[in-house]
Amino acid sequence: PPATPQYRPAYHFSPAAHWMNDPNGMVYSKGVYHLFFQHYPDGMVWGPMHWGHATSPDLLTWQEQPIALFPDSLGYIFSGSVVIDANNTAGFGPNAMVAIFTHHDPVTEKLGTNKHQNQSLAYSLDEGKTWTKYQGNPVLKNPGIQDFRDPKVSWHAATKKWVMTLATKDCITFYSSSDLKSWAKESEFGATLGAHGGVWECPDLFPLTLNGQTHWVLIVNLNPGAPNGGSGTQYFVGRFDGHTFTPSSTTTKWADYGPDDYAGVTYHNTGSRRIFQGWMSNWDYSNQVPTSPWRNAMTVPRELGLQKVGAELYLTSRPVPEVSKLARPGVSLKTIRVQKQLDLTPQLKSVGDKFELKLTPQTLTTWAVVLSNSQGEELVIGFDKPKNEYYIDRRKAGKTDFNTKFAGRHTAPRLATGGPTELTLLVDASSVELFTDQGLTVMTSTFFPSQPLNKLQLRAADLTVTQLRYAPLAGK
Ligand code: FRU
Repeated sequence: PPATPQYRPAYHFSPAAHWMNDPNGMVYSKGVYHLFFQHYPDGMVWGPMHWGHATSPDLLTWQEQPIALFPDSLGYIFSGSVVIDANNTAGFGPNAMVAIFTHHDPVTEKLGTNKHQNQSLAYSLDEGKTWTKYQGNPVLKNPGIQDFRDPKVSWHAATKKWVMTLATKDCITFYSSSDLKSWAKESEFGATLGAHGGVWECPDLFPLTLNGQTHWVLIVNLNPGAPNGGSGTQYFVGRFDGHTFTPSSTTTKWADYGPDDYAGVTYHNTGSRRIFQGWMSNWDYSNQVPTSPWRNAMTVPRELGLQKVGAELYLTSRPVPEVSKLARPGVSLKTIRVQKQLDLTPQLKSVGDKFELKLTPQTLTTWAVVLSNSQGEELVIGFDKPKNEYYIDRRKAGKTDFNTKFAGRHTAPRLATGGPTELTLLVDASSVELFTDQGLTVMTSTFFPSQPLNKLQLRAADLTVTQLRYAPLAGK
């Protein structure tokens, strides 16, 4: 297929060429953010998995690096995590980067014994440039569970152990270890809790504090079964004592309601910041999106927090503040009155395809931001007051015919109560991310217009927008 440079994001990571899915082994070390990723370097669709590698000083300008991990006799290299082994617990060397990943063996998969996914190690002593697989792989053998993968490892300070959070078909299994090499099962969680429309994948477990109190967040990606179809990211908030996770509520919660945020987990070693990044696609159609010579990108990295609404604790996700460093001189407008429809394009001078838009409506009422072009294509991002829900409608935003599940108007409940809302939109060539109510409701959606959507309108019956800020975002 012909190249589609018009869909190439500037500040979201995408591989130079070929297939990409889950982010893996995200870690901060010596001033550099490392992003590894599920990669098939020989084709445009999912295939034998490698770990690709990219580095960034700021989470937004990425430099692709040589492939980190190649498939071997034990199988493909599926998703997993990286830790910095500061105290040399594994004996690979002080401050070794240790990757804990799933070996997926396509040969034994065919035997049907359900033992083809096992956890293995690799380490790097040169900041991720070269990797050595551990001779004793696999370190955690499959007891016979069909889906047994995506280890996320972190250091549990209170018990002074490594904890592995593993996706095991329809639940999460926790393991612990003192050396990353021998693992003991601690407990299982979730077989009868949360959403179960599909298999549980790519989990994460980490503490967050709110008003001086520590809560543990357990992220569980799920495919299919997301609120808008296909792949999605649910989470639980509760307690973790190094052995068991106890949720504080049985409400099913979602980190992102849009169709295109999957397999997200957080960075290791970022101090008090908790940074989440997902794959900006959906298994429903990720193998068919009309981009070339690459397929799929990552979401913008997001800083996570907690917020209480009523009796419930929710995650908040906001774009990392580094995004504002990419902002070019823009336009700020105050007290804009929208009666039915207002075309802001002239006031914004020109509407590009990579920008940040911040908007504060004065009252909580129905509104829409409409991005369109002269071809009659439009992407509508809005809030429906009677239904108390946000939505992104990409049905007419360009190409949709590559997969019947792509076109859609996707919705998300407003979780915040009272007050007017505020929102941030991040647009990057072929994606939009909506962050509202201080990050309580988030939606991510990809779209593929035949020409850039260079017109920006606001729609509302009668609304005053207190403040609007538009700034082009420049990447590399
Ligand atoms: C999630 C996933 C993981 C697996 C990887 C394989 O998207 O299915 O569970 O490790 O992709 O590429």
